[in-house]
Amino acid sequence: MCGIFGCILKNGSAAPIIHASLKRLEYRGYDSVGVATIDNGKLFVKKDIGKIDDVPTELNLDDLPGRIGIGHTRWATHGAPSQINAHPHFGCSDPPRIAVVHNGIIENFADLKRELEERGHVFRSKTDTEVIAHLIEDGLKTQKSTPEAAVSSSDFEKAVTDAVKRLQGSYAIAVTSLEEPDKIICARNESPLVLGINEDSLYFASDIPAVLPLTNKAVFVENGELVILKNGEFQIKKLVDGSIVAREPKLIDWTPEMAEKQGYLHFMLKEIHEQPHCIRDTLRLQDKYLELLTTFLDRSKEVIMVACGTSYHACLAASYMFSKLSFLATHPVIASEFPEQHGKSVNIDSTILAVSQSGETADTLAAVEAARLRAATILGLTNAVGSTLTRVSRVYAVQQSGPEIGVAATKTFTSQLSVLSQLAIRLAKKRGKVSQEEIDLLDEKTAKIPDIVEKIVETQEEKLKALAKKYRDKKCFFFLGRGISYATALEGRLKLMEIAYVPSIAFPAGESKHGPISLIESGFPVIFICPPDGTRKTLIGNIMEMKARGASVIAICEEGDKDIMKMVDDYIEITSGIPEVLSPIPYVVPLQLFAYYMAIERGCDPDMPRNLAKSVTVK
Ligand code: AGP
Repeated sequence: MCGIFGCILKNGSAAPIIHASLKRLEYRGYDSVGVATIDNGKLFVKKDIGKIDDVPTELNLDDLPGRIGIGHTRWATHGAPSQINAHPHFGCSDPPRIAVVHNGIIENFADLKRELEERGHVFRSKTDTEVIAHLIEDGLKTQKSTPEAAVSSSDFEKAVTDAVKRLQGSYAIAVTSLEEPDKIICARNESPLVLGINEDSLYFASDIPAVLPLTNKAVFVENGELVILKNGEFQIKKLVDGSIVAREPKLIDWTPEMAEKQGYLHFMLKEIHEQPHCIRDTLRLQDKYLELLTTFLDRSKEVIMVACGTSYHACLAASYMFSKLSFLATHPVIASEFPEQHGKSVNIDSTILAVSQSGETADTLAAVEAARLRAATILGLTNAVGSTLTRVSRVYAVQQSGPEIGVAATKTFTSQLSVLSQLAIRLAKKRGKVSQEEIDLLDEKTAKIPDIVEKIVETQEEKLKALAKKYRDKKCFFFLGRGISYATALEGRLKLMEIAYVPSIAFPAGESKHGPISLIESGFPVIFICPPDGTRKTLIGNIMEMKARGASVIAICEEGDKDIMKMVDDYIEITSGIPEVLSPIPYVVPLQLFAYYMAIERGCDPDMPRNLAKSVTVK
């Protein structure tokens, strides 16, 4: 998830406006920045690694001449943060004649790159984006009968159209070129793109916050559309057939602060709503890294997963996935306990899978270091390309959640689960532990998870808001689940504690009778996570135990699960037919929303909970 912005001004200098607008998109990515402008038939570019507050000053970015320009603030997905990998990207010509900025993931970039290299193209960066610039350049070359032949206006547009038609994946792209210096062409598929219109200037951006201080007239670009910006006019065309799309600007009545949250009150709520998109992106991870991780796991004599907090809960859930699907025993370990628990036993035959969205959590890195010193193999799963974890890992995967601003992890948790479940399914396939039919069914169900999460948020949010109002004064909560849902229960408990400050306890439901049930009295709230899996029968017994002692029971259960619905005080329904090993992804979403609305009910700030930091870089 990156931020793109650009403009065609009637007068004045584009660079300072681009700089200020990228600053408003910083929450989308902040590891490198770049701008390209066109002036007097020349293309000017400045880009570097670093934050939007630093790079422009060092590079005097605002001095770039010209009233036309495009810019980018990056959240690295392909290629670590560096000056070369920063956007804009170019074709082969030097100095460059085409500049491209892009937000999204080009899934088939490796194939396109290979094809272009065979045709003599030389690539500078490790990014997926650069293929777009080379494709356009290649298209222009093919159209030009001779190198110096003039390019007609349609040629540039045709070259961009043809190039975009070859892309698979998510993208919001903007291209500017010396072939047609007074034009910017944009295209969109899945990644957000909005135009800002005012009487004498045109803007495009990844998101409303960037255009709002400049105009409140916005045009939302849809999937499969191409936009041509030129001379104060914009034209939208369908990529598939070039047909013109008429669309009137909408008036936006948000404050810039509201806009950064896309109209949501808090980043946490926005990030909960972003999960379908993020999970879809995890399903686009580069095959080669998942295959490499699967190979290492398959060869391992011992697999220890280390992490903290929410990431540890993802590891715990993964241990059920690996065991149930691929018959691989794994040890999920809280990183701060690793040195004591495994420090002496870890060895050259051990594989450590370290999971950390920030990639900078000190306890997790210390566990990795302790294992590395004993020759263990280090694998990583993170959300931050270029983070320390990526540098100490033999192989790592990036989970594609984009930056998470809310301190409480939400979208990064469901993305971690999505990646880990893909690894477990691949390993099962590799080991022939499940039939091809089962694999196909799991793949089919996995592909449906984003829509299911979307439906939960759309259909259950109001109900969870009401439940929070009903239970807001409760002093303590139990979160119970069996099997893989124990991990979901732990995560639900952590969310409620960290943002609403309600003391809560989570344990495997089977443990109730061994002590915790003594706390139960009339009205004591107990949340059960009840997917219809192999634990259902015994879980129903646990619900009855709690009800018999007066507990108020909330169940997260499958839609239409009458047996459970009639036993409990309140229930939240989840779409049916979700395989057990994938259940933590959709079943945790109501718990995220419940915690969020409990925090609101109790007057807490969900984004900045007291005493916590987004990344805990101290041991
Ligand atoms: C979760 O909401 C918390 N922010 C915290 O427990 C977090 O999961 C933990 O600090 C691990 O962070 P990491 O994934 O960046 O390593």
